[in-house]
Amino acid sequence: MRYGFFDDTRREYVVDRVDCPWPLTNYLGTQRMGAVLSHQAGGYCWLDTPEYGRITRFRPNSVPVDGPGHWVYLRDEESGAYWSLSWQPTAADVSAYTCRHGLSYSVFECALRGIRASQTLLIPREADPQTDPVEVFDIRLKNESGRPRRLSVIGYVEFSFHHISFDQQNFQMSLYCAGSRYEEGAVLCDLKYEEGETHFFASDQAPADFDGTRDAFLGPNRSERNPLGVEKGVLSGRVENGGNPVGALRRSLTLAPGEEARLFFYLGRGGAEAADAARKKYDAAGVDRAMEELRAFWEEKLSVLRVHTPHENMNRSLNIWNLYQAEINVLFSRFSSFIEVGGRTGLGYRDTAQDAMCLPHADPEKCRWRLEQLLHGQVSAGYGLHLFDPAWFEPHPPQDRKSPTVVPEMTQARIHGLDDACSDDALWLIPAVVEYLRETGDLSFAHRVIPFADGGEATVWEHLRRSLDFSFGQLGVHGITKGLRADWNDCLNLGGGESAMVAFLLLWAVEHFSDAARALGFPEEGARYAARAEALKETCHRVLWDGEWYLRGFTADGRPIGSHRDPEGKIHLESAAWSVISGAADKAQAESTLDAVEKWLLTPYGLLLNAPSYTRRDDGVGFITRVYPGVKENGSIFSHPNPWAWVAESLLGRGTRAMKAYDALLPENQNDRMEIRQAEPYAYCQFIMGPDHSAFGRARHPFMTGSAGWAYYAATRYLLGVRPGFDRLVLDPCIPARWDGFSLERRWRGADYRITVRNPAHVEKGIRSLRVDGTPTDRIPVFSSGLHTVEAEMGS
Ligand code: NOJ
Repeated sequence: MRYGFFDDTRREYVVDRVDCPWPLTNYLGTQRMGAVLSHQAGGYCWLDTPEYGRITRFRPNSVPVDGPGHWVYLRDEESGAYWSLSWQPTAADVSAYTCRHGLSYSVFECALRGIRASQTLLIPREADPQTDPVEVFDIRLKNESGRPRRLSVIGYVEFSFHHISFDQQNFQMSLYCAGSRYEEGAVLCDLKYEEGETHFFASDQAPADFDGTRDAFLGPNRSERNPLGVEKGVLSGRVENGGNPVGALRRSLTLAPGEEARLFFYLGRGGAEAADAARKKYDAAGVDRAMEELRAFWEEKLSVLRVHTPHENMNRSLNIWNLYQAEINVLFSRFSSFIEVGGRTGLGYRDTAQDAMCLPHADPEKCRWRLEQLLHGQVSAGYGLHLFDPAWFEPHPPQDRKSPTVVPEMTQARIHGLDDACSDDALWLIPAVVEYLRETGDLSFAHRVIPFADGGEATVWEHLRRSLDFSFGQLGVHGITKGLRADWNDCLNLGGGESAMVAFLLLWAVEHFSDAARALGFPEEGARYAARAEALKETCHRVLWDGEWYLRGFTADGRPIGSHRDPEGKIHLESAAWSVISGAADKAQAESTLDAVEKWLLTPYGLLLNAPSYTRRDDGVGFITRVYPGVKENGSIFSHPNPWAWVAESLLGRGTRAMKAYDALLPENQNDRMEIRQAEPYAYCQFIMGPDHSAFGRARHPFMTGSAGWAYYAATRYLLGVRPGFDRLVLDPCIPARWDGFSLERRWRGADYRITVRNPAHVEKGIRSLRVDGTPTDRIPVFSSGLHTVEAEMGS
């Protein structure tokens, strides 16, 4: 069953059955303001931080699951009939509705009772990123009824207290220190306890009437489905000091037959003056311009790499949705969705590092900005602060985030100790920085001096060295890196036990480090670490090989994890994939490991994280054993590590198998299986329930997941095989044998490469001839300008 389709020309996903019972979400905003909204316009927005800068309210994990929202009602003044432009909350005549989710905007459309209407929501880009952004509701109406119509258009939002936990938990105070006012055509939400802080909801022209309190707008014993104000066609004009402030504005208009109208609502920060500035800036021409700017913004990013393969859904994903999702992660980190409802601020160390690693080509500045934040979030001992707010390190860190009522807080040391350190966090920094150097060629970045979180400063290069030194200094009794609080897997809490995955990751990090060391002119340093890595590799061979695959590690009391002897958690995807990517596994071991991955872990929806799921609690292994079988880290198809297996398969040259696993996870392939997937078919989800759960195939936690970046990274760099090196553009595809070839365009360091790969011999890997600008060669050089053609033929 499907609920929508892809419109690639407009880069939109069109929900043509808006009664889809699972929220299909989209994100607005590309700078400081963000919003997450469902296909029924339910959701919330925030400024700067979803934890402390909430603008509209969200009722997390409630009924409905996406409410309240950024809603607009239409009322026929003759009959008194009313309906909403996004189907919910009035929910009538579903066949009259569609929703189009585009890149950083959403359009809700309906044609009902002779009126065609649409509501486009967007957050325009501001030329000066310090300017407070505004969310614009662009409403268009057309009278198709053949007779004059008198209509009311009522925009509605429910304001939130800035501080989410205060908003959702401290009602004995929050209901009395934020309220509403009405000034010059705008309803203002007055956050009294934050001196001078207000939010506005305004329209481009004075409203006929308004409401500033939820009680007045909804009326007694009602909900957003049938608000009294809408039903009566008159809003009460009530504002109040305290209560639940809302912004409701009614615009009244008459449309002659065939006549069209366009009007706007604005949601933003500030008072009547800011509302007025929004009106002036975002009149019809201003909004059209803003839409154009958003299109240009995404076009610029998407045009850096465009692929044309025989695989339509792969093209759609890599050229539109996968990159979009990955970018949203870089932009908003992981803390704003319907699941992570904004209760955290800042950056998760490992997540942010991997997100930045995966797309320096599309957004080098933003990636560098994230890298600088991460480098600053590293302590001088070399580990990363697992969760930190870059604002802590600003010259004037935010002081006002304490609860305003008397709730004593334990002073929380921001610099956590080794007990809270994760063994993988700062290792991701190394490939992330090195990919940035390879992409941009800006080697001077390695010499930039950046402070440590706990004082002192060092060059970027020294930061990287410290993270290697930290990991090499954390070897357990078997000589394998310790797992600490967790490795990549939050639920594998090994403490002093050992993590094979981190050992492999360390080997991979050294590879990146050594490559960069050569490019930077100190190859001896790379060689020194490579020698340490070689010794670690020997140890891995000696203590981790289990006969068919590598162990996942050891518990603190020395028990092996992930052995064929274990009845549960026999085989784990992370260690299997990384044993190959890192080069720890020799060819025979790698083949055996990936065969076992296919045998034990491959499902129609992707690769399981481990199998069989744990059913018995074992705190030596970790929290993973306290999670139901088949979900989350315990035996689900955890999306993030899936691309690691594609990389591993492609390193072995098994393109058909790599593509099989790619296809199993690809959201676009699931558009016709929505009754099973129950989640966006255009966004990777954190996990998909495994066969040990009754809902096998159900996807959960869309958008905010490391699988987006990694899927993009693995597919473009390893399946299609185009990856920047320091002194060349590497072309090393690994594709299904049935493909005749593919082509792509890549912008890199100021030059454009038009690459065509032919596969007449139908092999899976290997380039037998290469021509650059018509001349046979064995490498694609770095050009700094111009358009260059690359023709490659696969074969042996
Ligand atoms: C989600 C977390 O954000 C990420 O850091 C972690 O790697 C995965 N869960 C796996 O546990």
